[in-house]
Amino acid sequence: MRIARFDEIAPSKAQRNAFDCGEPSLNRWLATQAGQSMESRDAVTYLLMDGPSDAEVIAGYYCLASGSISRETTPTSMARRAPEPIPAVRMGRFAIDLAVQGQGWGAELLREALLSAVSGGKLIAARVMLVDAISEEARNFYVRFGFTPSIHPLQVLYDLRIVEASTGR
Ligand SMILES: CC(C)(COP(=O)(O)OP(=O)(O)OC[C@H]1O[C@@H](n2cnc3c(N)ncnc32)[C@H](O)[C@@H]1OP(=O)(O)O)[C@@H](O)C(=O)NCCC(=O)NCCS
Repeated sequence: MRIARFDEIAPSKAQRNAFDCGEPSLNRWLATQAGQSMESRDAVTYLLMDGPSDAEVIAGYYCLASGSISRETTPTSMARRAPEPIPAVRMGRFAIDLAVQGQGWGAELLREALLSAVSGGKLIAARVMLVDAISEEARNFYVRFGFTPSIHPLQVLYDLRIVEASTGR
């Protein structure tokens, strides 16, 4: 498996259409929007690729964009001495193909997404990763990995300073 930016991989239409995470809106977005969103600088997509170089498939993806969150919806520990609004990295979408779900790739990709957010936050400050989960079940996945629920029911947050401190990056 390898992880790289969408434009570095330049996946074919067939590769994009073959991706199926069981959530039609996430499949469709990868097939039709991910490339366009990169070109228009609305979101950067990263792909998890699996298989030999002549027959690689997309095994997962996430996309990141800049964002912000108001202090009043943020837990006190993350909001302390922060500006209003608090600068954030927003993870808009996150998915693993059904063929490889349940094998630890979601956990691995989530770790990579947090590290990407830390790197981005060093160039353009960001204190928090913000995710609007697609469902209650998806929200539970993030909470399982230490994300904190915000006051919005499907929104979860992660303090990027904790990632930085724990990885030394
Ligand atoms: C949610 C998703 C990304 C998880 O990916 P995955 O590769 O199956 O997850 P992993 O195998 O890495 O699971 C890691 C751990 O998370 C747990 N987990 C997986 N899905 C979970 C969920 N919905 N709630 C709580 N825990 C969950 C696993 O049981 C596993 O726990 P363990 O380490 O104790 O065994 C994947 O199921 C998916 O793409 N779903 C459809 C799209 C989606 O909901 N995306 C989120 C959009 S916001």
